[in-house]
Amino acid sequence: MARRATALAHPNIAFVKYWGNRDERLRLPANPSFSMNLGGLRTITTVTFQEAEGPDLLFVNGVPVEGPARERVSAFLDHVRRMAGFRGRAVVESITDIPPGVGLASSAAAFAALAAAASAALDLRLSERDLSTLARLGSGSACRSVPPGFVEWVAGERHEDSYAYSVAPPEHWDLWDVIAVVSEQHKAVGSSEGHRRAATSPLHGPRVATAPERVSRCREAVLRRDFEALAEIVETDAIWMHAVMMTSRPPLFYWEPATLIVLQAARRWREEGLPVAFTLDAGPNVHLLCPAEAVEEVARRAQGVPGVLRVLRSGPGGGARILPPEGGP
Ligand code: PMV
Repeated sequence: MARRATALAHPNIAFVKYWGNRDERLRLPANPSFSMNLGGLRTITTVTFQEAEGPDLLFVNGVPVEGPARERVSAFLDHVRRMAGFRGRAVVESITDIPPGVGLASSAAAFAALAAAASAALDLRLSERDLSTLARLGSGSACRSVPPGFVEWVAGERHEDSYAYSVAPPEHWDLWDVIAVVSEQHKAVGSSEGHRRAATSPLHGPRVATAPERVSRCREAVLRRDFEALAEIVETDAIWMHAVMMTSRPPLFYWEPATLIVLQAARRWREEGLPVAFTLDAGPNVHLLCPAEAVEEVARRAQGVPGVLRVLRSGPGGGARILPPEGGP
C-alpha cells in the first residue's frame, strides 16, 4: 500500500486574534479566537512515507528547504508517526500561492494541509475535530484552517479540548478580504517568538480577559451577517493585539508607515458609507474586510493609497480536504 496522500488547505484571517499561549509546547492558546478561511489562497501538500529511516525531506514550490523550517515540519510529523506507530521518513512536497512571512497566515494553511495529508497517508482516519487538534501542534492558527468557512477555536485547557469548529459554512456570507500589501519582506520576528513575548505586556491580561466576550459578539455578528457589528469588533481586536505587541519587552512593531495610512483611510471610507473594516496579522499588511458588493471599490481605493504595492483578494473558503490521487477520480 502506498503511504501517500495529498491535501489542500486555505489560510485564514482572524476576526478575533490568537496571541500568546498558556502552554507553549502544546500551543494551547491564552484565549479563544475566530476566523474566516480564505478560499482565494491555497497550499497543496503531498506526503509520502517511506520505510527508510533518515531525515525527512521538504520541498516548497519545488525548492528543497532545510534548517529550522524543515525541523519544525519533522517535529510535527513525529506526532503523526507516534499516533500511527510508524518509524520511516517522509517526503513532503508543498505547492503554495501564499507569500510566506508577511502576515498572511502561511503557516496555518501549511500545517492544516500537512496534518490532513500526513494523517491520511498513514490511514489514521481522524475526525475533523481531531485533525484540527493535531494541526494546532504545528501552528496554533492551523487548527482554524481545518473546518470550513467561519470558524471558532475553543481555547480548551488540555490538548484534546483545544480545537476549532465551523460556526457557519463559506456560503453563509459572501464576505471578502482585500489584502493591501505594503511590504513583501520576510518579517524579522516570527509569531512563535511573538507569542512568547505576549505575557511581558501589561495589556496582555486585559486583552485575554475580554477576548471571550469579543468571540461571542463576533459569532453573533457573523450569524446575523451584521457587518457594522463585525467591523467594530474586528478593528478593536486587531488594535488590542498590536497594542500588546508594541508594549511587549522587547517591543514588536510590525507596522510600516503605509500600514497606518491604510488604517486611517479605511476608517474614513467607512464613515463615508463604504462597508469596510480593517484587521492585521503579525505583519504590516492590512486586511480590508467587506461584503461582496464593495470588493471592487475597496480594492480600487486600496490600490490608490500611497505605499500599497498590490492588493490580493479572497472570499470565504472551505476546510482542509484530501485530493484524489493523480489520475484517480
Ligand atoms: O499560528 P501562529 O503561531 O502563526 O499565530 C498566528 C497569530 C496571528 O496570525 C497574528 C493571529 C491569528 O489569530 O491568526
